[in-house]
Amino acid sequence: MKKADPIVRRAQKVFTPALHMYYPMTIAHAKGIHVYTDAGRKYMDFSSGLAVLNIGHNHPRVLEAVRNQLLHCVHTGGIYYNETSVAAAEHLVSITPDGLDMLFFSNSGAEAVEGALKLARYVTGRQGIISFTGAFHGRTLGAVSITTSSSRYRNFYHPLLPSVYQVPYPYCYRCAFRCKRGTCNLHCLAFLREFMERVISPREVAAIIIEPVLGEGGYFPAPGNFLSGLRELCTEHGILMIADEVQSGMGRTGQWFAVDCHGVVPDILTSAKGIASGFPLSAVVSTRELMEKWPSGSHGTTFGGNPVSCAASIATIEVIREDGLLEKAATTGEAVLQGLREFSGSHPFIGSVRGCGYMIGIEFVGENGEPAGDACQKVLDFCLKKGLILIGCGMERNVIRFIPPLIATEQEINEGVEILEAGVKTLL
Ligand SMILES: Cc1ncc(COP(=O)(O)O)c(C=O)c1O
Repeated sequence: MKKADPIVRRAQKVFTPALHMYYPMTIAHAKGIHVYTDAGRKYMDFSSGLAVLNIGHNHPRVLEAVRNQLLHCVHTGGIYYNETSVAAAEHLVSITPDGLDMLFFSNSGAEAVEGALKLARYVTGRQGIISFTGAFHGRTLGAVSITTSSSRYRNFYHPLLPSVYQVPYPYCYRCAFRCKRGTCNLHCLAFLREFMERVISPREVAAIIIEPVLGEGGYFPAPGNFLSGLRELCTEHGILMIADEVQSGMGRTGQWFAVDCHGVVPDILTSAKGIASGFPLSAVVSTRELMEKWPSGSHGTTFGGNPVSCAASIATIEVIREDGLLEKAATTGEAVLQGLREFSGSHPFIGSVRGCGYMIGIEFVGENGEPAGDACQKVLDFCLKKGLILIGCGMERNVIRFIPPLIATEQEINEGVEILEAGVKTLL
């Protein structure tokens, strides 16, 4: 990384500062798990381009599918169908939980979330939306209204969407109710029930939206019994359960979707990021019964379901399936999790290591367990100097996301872990 990178300087002249970049560096090209700067410096990209490149940069199967599609047609624009987009939809519903077999394609995660909220309101005729504290669902006005991972996403955009409520996420490491995991009897779920007695009647709640693994807010997986309890609660009251799998989906957790780790089937699922290996695509997936209540024209898009992105998506799903990447992420991820947990035992700056598959969060703490964002940043900077790109998250920016591409070899994973551990040792 060079401070005086001329492209960074040009970028800063034309892009509004609102556009945040994790690192002031530019890449010239990328392949597999690596990115290369103009000066030829090579980095291992364990940010996976913000949890997008689950099968790495420029996977040859994706490039081939895209090249082929470019020769045929690149745009349908809501005027006509194209076989590639239909095949992509068929591929996607073949991997979503049973019963979720109709979808709406759009371009970004936030757009998918907007679509999910609109679908929920439309089909239930109710307005209330409940989301969880610390959640990140995107930056469009609807999505940001249910996002509370940081006030900087919301400041000066009020008034936001009305009839939106937040309840504590089951972030057991820092339980909002000061409960201990395992002995709490899911107090947070009981709170949600009580909330719907005192604050908004369940009869007015269209949907409860949850990231099955809290992403931007700190990489914390919701306990399985919480998710299944939430499922029951929603069913009991005719509330739609929306699983926002924009970040946790497409194999990242060692299952196609994080809800699969617990056998929980939501009513609506959102997917984006890893869905098309870097090409813009997202989806709202739901049951035929609900989708068929959403009449023609009640939602729409010009670019959603773009055939080129769809070709990339088909190739992505095939690669994950054929190369056994789910199993690999599940087993290697578990080994990394255990290894990091053992390591953290002698490193007091690490308060918690959690996750599943290749979606692991490492939380940095101070002497009294308080969030230690500076320590986390020091480790991230160390890793970058050593050629490893990792990024942070967490409400206090004190969590490292360990999200290598699923295609990384065991040796590459170990190399990344060694650099990360060396970074943590510098804190001592
Ligand atoms: C869980 C979740 N939902 C929605 C979004 C928004 O996605 P996008 O940035 O593609 O709009 C993100 C992005 O990080 C996300 O992690």
